[in-house]
Amino acid sequence: MRAMVITKFGGPDVFELWEIERPQPRPGEVLVRVVASGTNPVDAKIRQAGSWAGIPFPAVLGYDVSGIVEEIGPAVSGLQPGDEVFFTPEIFGNPHGSYAEFTIASERIVARKPDGLSHIEAAGIPLAGGTAWEAVIRRLAVRPGETLLIHGGAGGVGSFAVQFAKAAGAQVIATASKANHSFLEELGADVVIDYRDQDVAEQILGEAGHAGIDASFDTAGGNIEMSTLVTRPFGRIATILPPTGDLSALYMKNQTLFGTFLTRESARLREMTPLFEREQAKVIVDTIMPLEDVAKAHERLDSGHGRGKIILTVTE
Ligand SMILES: NC(=O)c1ccc[n+]([C@@H]2O[C@H](COP(=O)([O-])OP(=O)(O)OC[C@H]3O[C@@H](n4cnc5c(N)ncnc54)[C@H](OP(=O)(O)O)[C@@H]3O)[C@@H](O)[C@H]2O)c1
Repeated sequence: MRAMVITKFGGPDVFELWEIERPQPRPGEVLVRVVASGTNPVDAKIRQAGSWAGIPFPAVLGYDVSGIVEEIGPAVSGLQPGDEVFFTPEIFGNPHGSYAEFTIASERIVARKPDGLSHIEAAGIPLAGGTAWEAVIRRLAVRPGETLLIHGGAGGVGSFAVQFAKAAGAQVIATASKANHSFLEELGADVVIDYRDQDVAEQILGEAGHAGIDASFDTAGGNIEMSTLVTRPFGRIATILPPTGDLSALYMKNQTLFGTFLTRESARLREMTPLFEREQAKVIVDTIMPLEDVAKAHERLDSGHGRGKIILTVTE
């Protein structure tokens, strides 16, 4: 099979097009033909210096799949060849990512692709959408009428978070650079703040009054200290990056901080699916490019300023 492989860490030029053996599904696993692969900042972090992920070389990176079950291993009960599926492959120790024509995964992390979505759209959901779902819906559990601040609203995770929070009935304040403001307003954000040119805390406390907002979600990193200041007493804060700064206001304000690191499961994919099928949420596809152009996708990922998703087409 065709695969974009790395044999060392480094810049986007480390990818090489190789012909390699298809992986064989073991008990409980399925072999999936990858129609489209999503891309995420974590792919670029591993490509740069990913020894922490314990992935043996030669390695196929890529952690978002939409495709078709080709073969099932022994003891697989819920999936059949021909099923259209989507999922986010395991990262740690897994050399069988989605930058290849075929990949394998435990059936426990695979779910049926939402009806009405193309493989290109579905490939953008599992990792970024799953992270936004975990933080906004499961952990912060935003309720109708609450106000949620989303740091980095236009990115892969942020653009799902904005839509999930609106679908849950919340008011959304999102931060982004100026070029993304009209995009975020169209996506449903009630207030958009330019984190480069405006004093975010001052803007929010002006909007929310002195008590502060109900919840904050940091998708960009470095914003927890400010979140403790703008979130009300007994409010909730979630982060998908390591918390930094002075967090002393957290305990005095009785706030809860949710560290959120995505785990793999099919249940979360199934929970999100109705929102996409009812068109209450959509996938923001920034660019579509062939698998062989993965280096170009990584140049963009390296910038740290994604808007929606970059998707790779892999097989027809
Ligand atoms: N813990 C987990 O399980 C998990 C899961 C997924 C992602 N992540 C991590 O979360 C981060 C975001 O992922 P992503 O897929 O959303 O990335 P992305 O698509 O590249 O988006 C990043 C966004 O951050 C915004 N941004 C950059 N600096 C900012 C700042 N100082 N304040 C506010 N916004 C800022 C950018 O907005 P502008 O372009 O408007 O400036 C951009 O929209 C990455 O570091 C990723 O590795 C962690």
